[in-house]
Amino acid sequence: MKKALKTFSDPQKLQKWCAARREAGARIALVPTMGYLHEGHLSLIAAARKKGADEIVVSVFVNPVQFGPNEDYEKYPRDEKADLAKCRAAGATAVFFPTPANMYLDGYSTYITEETLAAGLCGARRPGHFRGVCTVVAKLFNIVHPHLAVFGQKDFQQAAVIKRMVRDLNFDVQIVVSPIVREPSGLARSSRNTYLSDDERTRAVALSQALRLAKADVAAEGSVPWRACRAKIVKMLEKAGLTVDYVEAVDSETLAPVKTLAKGVAVLLAVWCGKTRLIDNIEL
Ligand code: PAF
Repeated sequence: MKKALKTFSDPQKLQKWCAARREAGARIALVPTMGYLHEGHLSLIAAARKKGADEIVVSVFVNPVQFGPNEDYEKYPRDEKADLAKCRAAGATAVFFPTPANMYLDGYSTYITEETLAAGLCGARRPGHFRGVCTVVAKLFNIVHPHLAVFGQKDFQQAAVIKRMVRDLNFDVQIVVSPIVREPSGLARSSRNTYLSDDERTRAVALSQALRLAKADVAAEGSVPWRACRAKIVKMLEKAGLTVDYVEAVDSETLAPVKTLAKGVAVLLAVWCGKTRLIDNIEL
């Protein structure tokens, strides 16, 4: 029988409830999100269920600290009512809707910085972004004290940074990374896809096509010089009218740049599609 869905906005109340459930022997999973849930998020809830979680806590919080001053914090899509219904249908057992004021009390001044994996790629283009992500995720870990936490592979660098933070700071939590969920066109699901016009949505399909090109090159040749493959990818993205922010091939654990595409390498890209910044990746 499905459990009733609990909702919390007060971090202390959620913390108390989670501690009692843990004490009673429940296995707790955390699914951190910024809301406006789509099938990608629902797959994270499903992954938590598959891992045997008794309580699945979904946090829905547009975290102001991970947005730069000229980014889309204000316009980021929000729909609490729909999120609640989707969490209920997906089998979550608790939803946490904190407010910025109760997550960041007056005079808040403590942040977490991962200094290596967060330095390049999105970290270089969005200064302070991963500091904000690590800080809020660490706070959520301390509030929920989950046995496991599920993140999407779509945010490849974010997952790597969080795994490193967990290792470095001895957080007692298993990190599960769940595969990217794509639209039938190949476009990776993202709450920011709602910003795209029909024409932009069509052009954005080039992201996944470009990544498939890298995969096909490696499948055909085993290992491939990155320079040549990168040039083909950039050409393909630009032909679709996208503006490249970065296209990089990195070691999938260390995120160090590589010169040859082969197994164990991830290709990560970020592009501007009109005014919307989209990211995608593939692990070879
Ligand atoms: O991936 C996201 O939606 C956010 O970065 C996260 C992990 C929920 C932290 O705000």
